Amino acid sequence: MRLAGKRALITGAARGIGLEFARAYIAEGAMVALADINERAVTAAARALGPQAVPVGMDVTDEASIDAGFAQAVAAMGGLDILINNAALFSAAPITEITRQDYDRLFSVNVAGTLFPMQAAARQMITQGQGGRIINMASQAGRRGESLVAVYCATKAAVISLTQSAGLNLIAHGITVNAIAPGVVDGEHWDGVDAFFAKYEGKAPGQKKAEVGAAVPFGRMGTAADLTGMAVFLATPEADYITAQCFGVDGGNWMA
Ligand SMILES: NC(=O)c1ccc[n+]([C@@H]2O[C@H](COP(=O)([O-])OP(=O)(O)OC[C@H]3O[C@@H](n4cnc5c(N)ncnc54)[C@H](O)[C@@H]3O)[C@@H](O)[C@H]2O)c1
Repeated sequence: MRLAGKRALITGAARGIGLEFARAYIAEGAMVALADINERAVTAAARALGPQAVPVGMDVTDEASIDAGFAQAVAAMGGLDILINNAALFSAAPITEITRQDYDRLFSVNVAGTLFPMQAAARQMITQGQGGRIINMASQAGRRGESLVAVYCATKAAVISLTQSAGLNLIAHGITVNAIAPGVVDGEHWDGVDAFFAKYEGKAPGQKKAEVGAAVPFGRMGTAADLTGMAVFLATPEADYITAQCFGVDGGNWMA
């Protein structure tokens, strides 16, 4: 049990990678507040995980909702040691078709929705005086642009940059801040991604997903479970001296 007694809040935890992280953290002995805008889904997900899971309704774009969600989580768990900023939206469009509305929506969820929960967590951890861990979900998309994915790529580049600045700023309080950059991870999120490529590249449904999976050097798409090792490691004492970094967990996809 590498996280026994630790208290974590994970945003976007109603499904996909965030839910798998919650499962892995609980298996390692942590208590986890699963925060999501989809209150019904996150309540059902937390209930299925048992008494170590606390459902929290939270919209990461809304500061009042962030404050209320963190207060609820801290009251339920008795404090906060780890934050995983995982909630995000994806969209795709050629440069000529990007809308201001879509740009604002993605930056609001993916970037402001990383910064302000990070701020809320840091304030709580500084008050507790015991340090803490913050893990931000970046992406290979944040390491380079993609033809149809300008806005999402830019948001994930911003997440990597925020991780670097926050890591440097919070180290004096014993709080480390790191990011994980997955490649292509199977799940409901990718069904949405596939639909964008079907629209803009004229592909049959499922075709893009099959193509990107076959192109991963490891030989397949990632799964949420492939990411849990890094998410747990970054929260353990072995990672004490690591901060402001972004770690690819992608079956070699980015290097290829
Ligand atoms: N799946 C991939 O291929 C992949 C690749 C690289 C990076 N990532 C990143 O990993 C993270 C998780 O991805 P996933 O595939 O599990 O995504 P997902 O779409 O399956 O889950 C995202 C969750 O975030 C929640 N959410 C959306 N807006 C919110 C808001 N305003 N406030 C609170 N919650 C909100 C959704 O309800 C959902 O439960 C994301 O940051 C994503 O960008 C995913």
